[in-house]
Amino acid sequence: MKITLPIHNLEKHPVSHIDIPPGELGDISSSGTTAVISDIHGNLEALDAVLEDIDSLGVENLVSLGDQVGYGADPERVIQRLIIRNATCLMGNHELALLDDHCLGTFNPGAAQAVRMHRKLLSEESMNFIRTLPRSIVKHGARFVHGLPPGSILEYVSLTPDKKLMRIMAILKQTMSFTGHTHLMMWFELTEILNNPEDISQSRIGSKLSLNNLKRESFNAATSRPLTLRKTRRYLVNSGSVGQPRDGDWRAKYLIWNRDRGIILPRYVPYDNLTAAGKIKKRGLPGHFAEKLLYG
Ligand SMILES: [Fe+2]
Repeated sequence: MKITLPIHNLEKHPVSHIDIPPGELGDISSSGTTAVISDIHGNLEALDAVLEDIDSLGVENLVSLGDQVGYGADPERVIQRLIIRNATCLMGNHELALLDDHCLGTFNPGAAQAVRMHRKLLSEESMNFIRTLPRSIVKHGARFVHGLPPGSILEYVSLTPDKKLMRIMAILKQTMSFTGHTHLMMWFELTEILNNPEDISQSRIGSKLSLNNLKRESFNAATSRPLTLRKTRRYLVNSGSVGQPRDGDWRAKYLIWNRDRGIILPRYVPYDNLTAAGKIKKRGLPGHFAEKLLYG
């Protein structure tokens, strides 16, 4: 069976497609696959398109890295979808702001307006679900967190100095970590693995590793090439945003991690962004949240 992947195209709906030989992707429908989604931000149309894509590929596990709410028009229906799917969900900074006025106070006025509105739109069942969300989890041998491993909701991997990032990756028990929060699809690779890193102090790790050991790269939307994982290296992978893009590409983005094959496949999913943007405007939320859905 040939699987077609969409080519990024800002102007046309729907986008065109290119063919990828099936061997490129590995056996997506095998056991050991996990869909990693993040930053849905109340965008029901984007989430539904992504869930449909996940189902069409037979992916068995679903992890959502937080920021299920915020910015968008449909926080309640998004949370209910995830509850019904029995998805593993994490706490993002927008969930934290729902629960914590101090965190809300750090938001810009538009984002705070959306959080206040979402407090009114969310049912008691959904709010109770949100209250239980963990800051990070370890599952399938990998660490999952919204911001920065091991457990930060608020810090951005993209703004973390390389030296700090390298140290974090070096001492984590897990060789794989997934994060969201940046709304960017990128990955970091640590090319050197230390023996017994837990026995080495933070300051000495700096002397054992050079900044040349840390590679940083973005997934390529034009080729949709998978990342091939090497067993002798460590990875920190940023999954991009399902529902509020910040990379110039309007499509919903997520990752499929095939543990058996050791690959991570980026997915770029067209969806009805006009409807989603129209709903944001109808709610009276800031117009630039809607414009982001149209232009990325
Ligand atoms: Fe976010």
